[in-house]
Amino acid sequence: MKRILEIEIMSDINQCLAYSKGDFSDSNGKFIDYITGSVSKPSNVLDIGTGPGDVAIELSNIYPASEFLAIDGSAAMIEIAKSKMSNHKFNNIQFVECNLYDLELKNKFDLVLSKDTLHHIVAPISFINKIISLCSKGSRVLIMDLIRPKTVLECKKIVDEFNLDPILKKDFMHSLYAGFEINEVSELLTSFSLKFNTIRIGVRHFLCDITI
Ligand SMILES: C[S@@+](CC[C@H](N)C(=O)[O-])C[C@H]1O[C@@H](n2cnc3c(N)ncnc32)[C@H](O)[C@@H]1O
Repeated sequence: MKRILEIEIMSDINQCLAYSKGDFSDSNGKFIDYITGSVSKPSNVLDIGTGPGDVAIELSNIYPASEFLAIDGSAAMIEIAKSKMSNHKFNNIQFVECNLYDLELKNKFDLVLSKDTLHHIVAPISFINKIISLCSKGSRVLIMDLIRPKTVLECKKIVDEFNLDPILKKDFMHSLYAGFEINEVSELLTSFSLKFNTIRIGVRHFLCDITI
C-alpha cells in the first residue's frame, strides 16, 4: 500500500488525552535502552514531537547534567507533558509548544530525538533538512517510528490485536497508514549523504541512527 498522510499536528484535545492514556512503555523502553546503550552523555538534547513527554522525562532523569528541549506543535500535548513535571527531580527540561519548522536557535543540539513523529510528517525532506540545521558536525539524530504494513488488511489485524479506546484505535490505524517502509527511510537518508544505520526494533518499529 502507498503511504496515506495523516494530520501533522495532534491539536485535538480528546485525541491528545487518548494518546496520553495509551501504553507505549514497550516501544519507549526500547528507544531509551538504545539511546543509553549507544550515546555517551549528551549536552543539549532536542525531542521533536514529544507528545505527552514520557521519553524526554525519563531521559532527563537518566542524564541530569544534560539540557532537554522537548517541543510539540500541539498546545494540548505540551500541557499534558507539563502536568507530569511536578515530581520531576531535576530542572533540566523545557516543554515548549513549537512547530519544528519554526524553531530558530543559535545553540546547536548534539542529540536530536524523534519517536513516532516521522509518520506525521508531510514533507520528510524538509523535516530532515530542518533537523540538520539544528545540529553541528558529529551530532547524533535518532529517529524511531512505525513501519508501514504492506496492506490495509494487515493494518487492521495489528490494530485489532489491542483493546484500544475508539479514538486511539482510529489514530493507530491512521499512523500505520502514514508510516514508512524501512527501504523508504533508507532512500530518504541516502539522498542527504548522511552516515546512518537503520535497524528494526521489535515487530513494528525501525530506528535510524544518524551521524551528522
Ligand atoms: C504520535 S505523537 C508521538 C509522541 C511521543 N514522541 C511518543 O513517542 O509517545 C507525535 C507528535 O508529534 C507532533 N508533531 C508532528 N509534527 C510536528 C512538527 N512539525 N513539529 C512539532 N511537533 C510535531 C504531534 O503534534 C504529536 O504530538
